[in-house]
Amino acid sequence: MKNKVVLITGANGEIGHGLIHYLSQTPETQIIALDIKPLEPQLLSLCEQYIQCDIRDNDRVSAIFQKYELDTIYHLASILSTSAERIPETAHYINVDGTIELLKLANQQTARTNRAICFLYPSSIAVYGLPCTDTKRQSGKVREEDWCCPTTMYGCNKLYCEQLGRYYASHYQQLAEAAQEVRLDFRGLRYPGLISAFTVPSGGTSDYGPEMLHAAARGEPYHCFVRPDTRLPFMAMPDAIKALVNLAAAPAETLTRQVYNVTSFSPSALEFQRKVLHHFHEARIDFQPDIPRQSIVDTWPADIDDSAARTDWGWQPDYDFDRAFDEYLIPNIRERYTEPV
Ligand code: NAD
Ligand code: SER
Repeated sequence: MKNKVVLITGANGEIGHGLIHYLSQTPETQIIALDIKPLEPQLLSLCEQYIQCDIRDNDRVSAIFQKYELDTIYHLASILSTSAERIPETAHYINVDGTIELLKLANQQTARTNRAICFLYPSSIAVYGLPCTDTKRQSGKVREEDWCCPTTMYGCNKLYCEQLGRYYASHYQQLAEAAQEVRLDFRGLRYPGLISAFTVPSGGTSDYGPEMLHAAARGEPYHCFVRPDTRLPFMAMPDAIKALVNLAAAPAETLTRQVYNVTSFSPSALEFQRKVLHHFHEARIDFQPDIPRQSIVDTWPADIDDSAARTDWGWQPDYDFDRAFDEYLIPNIRERYTEPV
């Protein structure tokens, strides 16, 4: 019997793919999916309903709340960092206006039913803005409160949407005569760069890691757009899905904050290249730094402190750097690119 209704926006994206597959294995979950692009056919059959529309289409999005009483929202729809830098105002309208409208509707349902919707928001290491590479080297594991001074439109959007979520969950209409009895349950995660075996990213600035791996598996040359010494935190996609669903499942009383860092491993681009070469000996990967994109990556931390997530809701990644490659990425990527067309 299906008795848990979940809305996934940005469902056709990298996380959406993994999340739909994961949630479809829990028989009680009814998945409503939304994306501006057509949903891949293999995902369509796993969803109760698919709505192809812009997240800013208020009529179509409100209609979802009229039809369903939602339990959980995974709000994944977004323009990622590199793409956002090319169309900053449009990115703001999608990333921020799209989010506030969804928060408003989720809060209205919460107030009407007196049952809190759990609103999951994937934020990013892009909310951090380290002033120079020396500071980046010296900062170690950056905590949630540190260096929240983003230099990209995407980072600004993410940081502000985290604050909007906190506002709806804790302070919405604080001057109203009658306080809302039950409030929206907003929970955010700050992800590092994500690597999937099944999808190739586009429009992000951490894309050099997954791009070099997928290019090697396809036998194509790759020019890495950052310097070899560039270091960022990363995570394998199964851990990204695990973090999201575990945070959603955590009892509210165990949570001490609304937004949590989560991470797994932090290789340099050179270590990433060597790992790929270890598995694909013929891979042709060189380094041709793109200065503007390099400058963005230089403001993002080399590592983040996810101890609050570990303490509060038992966060623990399953995949370190070696295991991610040996047991998840390489076997699945080899199969993917050798499948008959
Ligand atoms: P993605 O780019 O693969 O997916 C985003 C999806 O949003 C796409 O399918 C796209 O079609 C959809 N979308 C874009 N504009 C839309 C609009 N106006 N209306 C409706 N849908 C729209 O990204 P992803 O990796 O799946 O990321 C999902 C979420 O996780 C995003 O919010 C992203 O910021 C966040 N995140 C991702 C990473 C990462 O490394 N992939 C890291 C940190 C945070
Ligand atoms: N991986 C994402 C990007 O590069 C960070 O959120 O945009």
